[in-house]
Amino acid sequence: MDVQLSVLKYNPETDKEPHFEDFTVEADPMERLLDCLHKIKWQHDSGLALRRSCAHGICGSDAMVINGVNMLACKVLVKDLKQPIRVEPIRGLPVLRDLIVDMEPFFAGYLAVKPWLITDDRQHDPERERIQSPEERERFDDTTKCILCAACTTSCPIFWADKEYVGPAAIVNAHRFIFDSRDDGGAERLEILSSRSGVFKCRTAFNCTAACPRGIKVTQAIQEVKRAALFDSL
Ligand code: SF4
Ligand code: F3S
Ligand code: FES
Repeated sequence: MDVQLSVLKYNPETDKEPHFEDFTVEADPMERLLDCLHKIKWQHDSGLALRRSCAHGICGSDAMVINGVNMLACKVLVKDLKQPIRVEPIRGLPVLRDLIVDMEPFFAGYLAVKPWLITDDRQHDPERERIQSPEERERFDDTTKCILCAACTTSCPIFWADKEYVGPAAIVNAHRFIFDSRDDGGAERLEILSSRSGVFKCRTAFNCTAACPRGIKVTQAIQEVKRAALFDSL
């Protein structure tokens, strides 16, 4: 079948403004949008800039706005998209070229919450294994699924308006460690997240939960972190 696409293009070296360009490619209804973008690149416009790596919903590099909704291009089938398919870069981050945005502000928010295991050897014998029960592991299971695609943060109206907000992805990754029974950095992270750029900026818009391609209950995780920050309930 013929598939019609309208793709936002922007080359800062030659274009004053971003603009849509139309393409038609031949594709099977069961092919993914990423396959169509590859066909554009290989058959029509070799300069089309986009990020992708795994093509199987794992690396998180091809989040984009598809027909107005944040999705991974490698996970959505052509048959499920209304044509012409409008393809734009994710919102709220500077566009470097075409569908590629500058992810630095996103990763700055992520790193600000110290998304790694923090251990205090004064509290635990470093020579001994730290046992974790299935129930303790279950406590943060949902937030381990994050692939850092930025679909949540770039769908959040608070993040669009206020770049100081660390954003939902950072909070999801803080949650993953705050509620890990082996981690000793919860209080430190909650202090960071109680600051002006932290969890209390969230206005429970739920866009983030709707956008997450991994089905993570993002807003629920944010609420749990808010409660822990307010009531010291670790
Ligand atoms: Fe992507 Fe979901 Fe992680 Fe947000 S929480 S970065 S939407 S995988
Ligand atoms: Fe934004 Fe999600 Fe909160 S969309 S306002 S982080 S619930
Ligand atoms: Fe890796 Fe889509 S290319 S998630």
